[in-house]
Amino acid sequence: MLTFENPAISFKNVTKKFGEHVILNDLSFDIARNKITTILGFSGAGKSTLLKHILGIIQPTSGKVFVLGQDLESLDKVQLREFRRNFGMLFQYAALFDSFTAEENVAFPLQEFTSLTKAQITEKVKDLLLSVGIKEESFKKLPSELSGGMRKRVGLARGLALSPGIMLYDEPTTGLDPITTKMVNNLIVETATIHKDREMTSVIISHDVKATLEISDYVAFLDRGTIIEYLPVSDFKNSTNPLVQEFLRL
Ligand SMILES: Nc1ncnc2c1ncn2[C@@H]1O[C@H](COP(=O)(O)OP(=O)(O)O)[C@@H](O)[C@H]1O
Ligand SMILES: [Mg+2]
Repeated sequence: MLTFENPAISFKNVTKKFGEHVILNDLSFDIARNKITTILGFSGAGKSTLLKHILGIIQPTSGKVFVLGQDLESLDKVQLREFRRNFGMLFQYAALFDSFTAEENVAFPLQEFTSLTKAQITEKVKDLLLSVGIKEESFKKLPSELSGGMRKRVGLARGLALSPGIMLYDEPTTGLDPITTKMVNNLIVETATIHKDREMTSVIISHDVKATLEISDYVAFLDRGTIIEYLPVSDFKNSTNPLVQEFLRL
């Protein structure tokens, strides 16, 4: 098992049960700072559940989750809400607000969580959208008027609005065509590396093996609530674990 000094995220003996059903089984592992870590696994393995523990959306039945050294369970509701500013999140379908334009979507977290003026928000939104490759002519378009790839870009710009130290991606390329998939993967790498002057830890939940091998620094394989392999990407390709090998052949 990989261990890191001063990890971004740390699971310590985390078990999660829904009723009698054990979803995460005594999970202990670290996620490195400023790296791209992908958690692979078959559907139903517990990947999204794991991600929700990182966000503090759900709590372990037993064990602890530390994010940036902070024990999430020691935070009250208000502190947790504030703490979530450390996270940017890109969901499978970008999860934009349908009735908001591209720029309104990106402005939303800035209006909710900062005391920036209207003019400052306009300026910041413009920078963010341009940085993910959305041109000004599309700023006032609704999500329904944007392509799947452009919606992803807008979703990413919104995720980056509060300058999070940790970006979380849940199945970012599932359901996308190959070209858009490549674009999103490039965007993830650019996002992780462009902000060299500050922290950017990326955690990706995925079952896209090819993309994972191309863009990750570290890869964990989650199977029925247990991490059965966790290696630097170059070693992961040579894993001798039969389940991992099966997955790699898909
Ligand atoms: N809120 C919940 N209540 C009960 N069971 C759940 C809940 N969330 C997830 N599960 C179950 O946990 C298992 C893992 O789900 P999930 O974490 O979504 O897997 P993955 O993202 O790897 O596909 C599934 O069997 C799912 O039905
Ligand atoms: Mg999932």
